[in-house]
Amino acid sequence: MKKTIAVLPGDGIGPEIISQAVKVMDAVAERYSHEFVYRYADVGAVAIDHTGEPYPDSTHKTCMESDSVLFGAIGDPKYDNNPAARVRPEQGLLKMRKALGLFANIRPVKPYDTLLDASPLKNGIVAGSDFVVVRELTGGIYFGEPRGRNEAGDKAFDSCVYSAEEIRRVAEVAFGYARRRRGKVTLVDKANVLATSRLWREVVTAMQKEEYPDIALDCLFVDNAAMKMVSDPKAFDVILTENMFGDILSDVSGVINGSIGLLPSASFGSGRSLFEPIHGSFPQGAGKDIANPVATILSAAMMLEDAFGLKQEAEAIRSACSDAVSRGVCTPDIVPGSGYGTNAVGTYIAGKVTES
Ligand code: IPM
Ligand code: MN
Repeated sequence: MKKTIAVLPGDGIGPEIISQAVKVMDAVAERYSHEFVYRYADVGAVAIDHTGEPYPDSTHKTCMESDSVLFGAIGDPKYDNNPAARVRPEQGLLKMRKALGLFANIRPVKPYDTLLDASPLKNGIVAGSDFVVVRELTGGIYFGEPRGRNEAGDKAFDSCVYSAEEIRRVAEVAFGYARRRRGKVTLVDKANVLATSRLWREVVTAMQKEEYPDIALDCLFVDNAAMKMVSDPKAFDVILTENMFGDILSDVSGVINGSIGLLPSASFGSGRSLFEPIHGSFPQGAGKDIANPVATILSAAMMLEDAFGLKQEAEAIRSACSDAVSRGVCTPDIVPGSGYGTNAVGTYIAGKVTES
């Protein structure tokens, strides 16, 4: 199979983790006789430095001309403490998600049995957890208008806006996952306070009744859901939620896995899909060979399976990652003082794929 992949390393640790994922994909290509053509493009702070824009048209063109997109991370501290910055790296990510129509972000969470001690939670709480967060990605308070300041500049506002159609299309994705898994969707919202949440409840409840009677649906307020995620994560199968709640809850889910550096994600929508680790650009770790490449490598596995239908190849990557983790071939976020850096972990996993 020949596929063209847009590769967007981005900022901070992005380039380091992406090069490990590419190393592993090259091992897949060699072992299973595929050809992956990589087309590199800028996004985030690095794109602002080069072009003034966080998601330049040329990068969008590269994405549109490719079969799928592999993305690293975005964010640079030089913009974080500067509220006056005209453009921010994060705008590039949001623009990219919107421009590529990526309305559903899938974040699977399933801790490795051999890594239960890496979680600050008790083993008995974490063991056996296996759920997927389906986060709406192109609506809500991230994109709603109006937003900004009043004329005097002493009042700021953001708008949370959702249409029934935006809710329906991402809910379909969540119900679809539930059908292939354990048949349960938990809608997380704040329907006791927010009008948008009440619309979510109305739309999703009606869909369950009319189109997905085989799926069990329950609804949880987000504050309660956050508590349940760390006290009883096994209760979840598919979590369906809006953009901001999904952002927050998926970071919380990193606690269950032991490191956010292990969690991949896939974003789907109207056209080509995008794959990225859920962690950020970790600027303090950039260039130190300490970033965990596994989340990005597992994101590449999701690409092979979900975008290209290469199930066996994806499985080979997943078992190589699991092998690395069980043998302690891990970066220091998981095994402090392990002696393995980003590059060595990537090389080990690629080697296991070659042997698969
Ligand atoms: C994520 C990130 C982004 C988000 C930031 C970098 C804009 O935190 O992908 O979860 O909030 O969506
Ligand atoms: Mn986030």
